[in-house]
Amino acid sequence: MNRKDHLEIEKKIAAEKALTYISSGMIVGLGTGTTAKYFIELLGERVQKGLDITAVPTSDKTASLARELGIKIDTNPRRIIDVDVDGADEIDLNGNMIKGGGGALWRERVVASNSNMVIIIADHTKLVDKLGNFPVPIEISKFMVNSTVRRLKSLSGDCSLRDGGRFITDNGNLIVDCSFRHLNNPAETYRLLKSVPGVIDVGIFLNIATLAILGQVDLSLKTLTFKKNIRA
Ligand code: A5P
Repeated sequence: MNRKDHLEIEKKIAAEKALTYISSGMIVGLGTGTTAKYFIELLGERVQKGLDITAVPTSDKTASLARELGIKIDTNPRRIIDVDVDGADEIDLNGNMIKGGGGALWRERVVASNSNMVIIIADHTKLVDKLGNFPVPIEISKFMVNSTVRRLKSLSGDCSLRDGGRFITDNGNLIVDCSFRHLNNPAETYRLLKSVPGVIDVGIFLNIATLAILGQVDLSLKTLTFKKNIRA
């Protein structure tokens, strides 16, 4: 089996494990990306067999997949989400993450921040000692984009508009990817980037994950639990 196929199996077994946290009556946050897709497909199978849940999708793509599978959608639930299941681009041993590789970071944060439990599912390559090898996705407004990008470049140096500005988020905004190589102080970097006018959200997620389920090379699962889940 080639490496890519192996990683896909790791993602799928992590998604299967996450499914064991879901039961009828729950409101479930649905993440975005290739790993979340496995979870949504498995959830759809369970729904077709009678599982009664309502889902809050983090992107239009996730919403349309969920609808196709017969999963009920509510984008404005009246109570807190029970469990959110999403992927990550990088996660460290404290549960801090870089997210937004799929461009859905803002809705992902809104959903995760309004969930009792946030389960991150991923293959083993997503676990890192230090965040920052993956460029930080930043959602910015189209209005005065040149100025916003200039300000971001002054903070990171290596920032570029995703797809040369052709990538448009579900919220009608743009994504800038800023490369830092190592985030020595993710909280401070988050604060600095978020303070730039025109920035809508920054793909550094701190103190949000409650559990990570990571597929391993030997196809076992590594589970990490994070004590602090103060929403930030
Ligand atoms: C989507 O915007 C991202 O935050 C994804 O959760 C992240 O990119 C992980 O995606 P994959 O599961 O495809 O690696």
